[in-house]
Amino acid sequence: MSDISRIQFAKDTIQFILNESCCRLNEFFPCTTEDKQTPLYTESVEQLLQLIEINNNNQLIKPLSVTTSSGAVLILIFKNFVIKIFNSHKTWSKVSTILNQLKHSDYIVKITHSISQNNIHAISTERLIPIVEHNSYGNHHLIYKFDHLLVLQLFRNISCALRSIHSIGYQQGDCTWDNIGMIGNRFVLFDFNCAQQLMPYRNSSDVPQLIKSGLYNLQYNNYDDTEQVTIDFLLKLKNLNLTDGFQLYNKVMSK
Ligand SMILES: Nc1ncnc2c1ncn2[C@@H]1O[C@H](COP(=O)(O)OP(=O)(O)OP(=O)(O)O)[C@@H](O)[C@H]1O
Ligand SMILES: [Mg+2]
Repeated sequence: MSDISRIQFAKDTIQFILNESCCRLNEFFPCTTEDKQTPLYTESVEQLLQLIEINNNNQLIKPLSVTTSSGAVLILIFKNFVIKIFNSHKTWSKVSTILNQLKHSDYIVKITHSISQNNIHAISTERLIPIVEHNSYGNHHLIYKFDHLLVLQLFRNISCALRSIHSIGYQQGDCTWDNIGMIGNRFVLFDFNCAQQLMPYRNSSDVPQLIKSGLYNLQYNNYDDTEQVTIDFLLKLKNLNLTDGFQLYNKVMSK
């Protein structure tokens, strides 16, 4: 690709992200003129192009879609990977540190690259399919019918994820079903934006949150497909007041 077509590709991509995200893209990295209307080929934009290439056999491709749910991160979704851009170096640093330490876990989304240069703070990860889908009317639904066996599998997989993150001294901090996805036939935990260091003698809120969100999703978003045995199982788990991923793992693996 010539320099001219690279610059044109960069500007087209920024325009696409501007159109898709309706966000103030300049709060993530410098990429437009001052009036925020016209895309520019800046050093940050070049870093973004390099991150795309490194994830895609040195080929440039445009994202399929863009999402910005909380405003603190911008997510560019490509066919086989995702680029997550942070508006703060601090959150970028926390998330990259955690994900780099958890690369061995099959139940945590895998980080592939991480950059923080020229005013852009970004990571790339595997692409997954979130299990809770939100439509444009603000309604939610689950991507599968969750029978008891599937709920058990989710709790087994995610308890492994929680065991890994708790073992490095962090909690995930937002352990709801919104932050669980599927890769192949595995459930994986993603979204570490709210992760915090675990304080000595303080219990993590991850396990109670996972159970509470499970009860909510199974009662309201799984229609008549939820079995009574599943609700009983979750209520029993809830009453055990489990404090971390190790305890949850031991409980759900023996079921
Ligand atoms: N690896 C991924 N693969 C596919 N989609 C993803 C991936 N990461 C994020 N997404 C999509 O982007 C959305 C937002 O990402 P994420 O959950 O990481 O941030 P967030 O929810 O905005 O952050 P916060 O927890 O601060 O509100 C997700 O709900 C999901 O739809
Ligand atoms: Mg999220």
